[in-house]
Amino acid sequence: MNTIKYQSGILKELPKSAIYLFFRLTHKNKLKQVLQSLLQLVDGDSTILGLGGKVMALLQVNTPYHPYTPTLKAQKLTPKADCDLVLWLRDNDQGVLTHSARRFIKILQDAFVCSDIARACTYLTHEQNGKLVNHDLSGFEDGTENPQGDDQFNTAIIQSDDKFIDGSSCWVIQKWLHDFDWLDKASQHAKEELIGRSLDDNREFENNKPLAHIKRTAQESFEPEAFMWRRSMPWINDQLNGGLIFSCFAQDFYPFEVQFARMIGEEDGIIDGLFKFSKIISTQFLWCPPFVKGKLILPDLVG
Ligand code: HEM
Repeated sequence: MNTIKYQSGILKELPKSAIYLFFRLTHKNKLKQVLQSLLQLVDGDSTILGLGGKVMALLQVNTPYHPYTPTLKAQKLTPKADCDLVLWLRDNDQGVLTHSARRFIKILQDAFVCSDIARACTYLTHEQNGKLVNHDLSGFEDGTENPQGDDQFNTAIIQSDDKFIDGSSCWVIQKWLHDFDWLDKASQHAKEELIGRSLDDNREFENNKPLAHIKRTAQESFEPEAFMWRRSMPWINDQLNGGLIFSCFAQDFYPFEVQFARMIGEEDGIIDGLFKFSKIISTQFLWCPPFVKGKLILPDLVG
């Protein structure tokens, strides 16, 4: 029997609701013990674990991970936010999610402080040809040009001879805050120009302007091509602010880095149309550890 070596939730449909928990490492001396308890509870399906910054620096493993290091231009659009561990809790039941989040914060509290909690949901999701079609809160269909079939696994999951690497994944999370007032006032045409697709039927327009989001990020237009597996979810808070938790998985950070560089105008000075109605709150580079024989495994920590 083929056992799944990756965190299976990465490739699954989005749940109706989710909570993202962001943590900073505060007590390094308790890390080993806390990670041991955590690994027992992360099933990779209802809970996805990503490790970043200080935790990755302590792991004795040669992954494609490196911390997010914005250029000067990128820093203006996306301030650096320290984050050493993220949990993506996925469940259709918000009560279950709440209790799960409380439990994980308690388990991690001896070594980590929870620095942000984002509640996520889906928007206008419906089934089409046996698959779920999701929307961003701006009204656009999101995920259309995601890889299909086996390409999903081959894009998102690392294959390696090293058991600590095989089945792992590089994960980028970027929290975007939308300007809903702008979106309310803007004409349909103005919004469509920024994305390059129709709000009514998602068709791709010909002759998109250079600022159009899908023109900036067209995956085959990079050399080498820059394919990623996107699993983003809308987020909202109690003040009714919200946006998108952009989330992508790949074998390394190359697809995100080249696409993002183009989005912020590093190549030609043209900024992606998205920035007209949204801004970035935080960016996280993370590494999702793999499973061996049904158990999440981590290499030893330094020291
Ligand atoms: C507020 C944040 C964002 C929103 C609302 C958004 C929305 C969208 C929408 C509506 C599409 C068209 C449908 C589709 O193919 O999914 C799209 C495509 C895409 N987006 Fe984004 N996006 C955001 C951020 C990003 C970021 C940060 C990246 C990567 C750095 C990115 C990469 C892509 C890619 C690769 C495509 C498909 C392009 C293609 O090959 O045609 N997006 N996005």
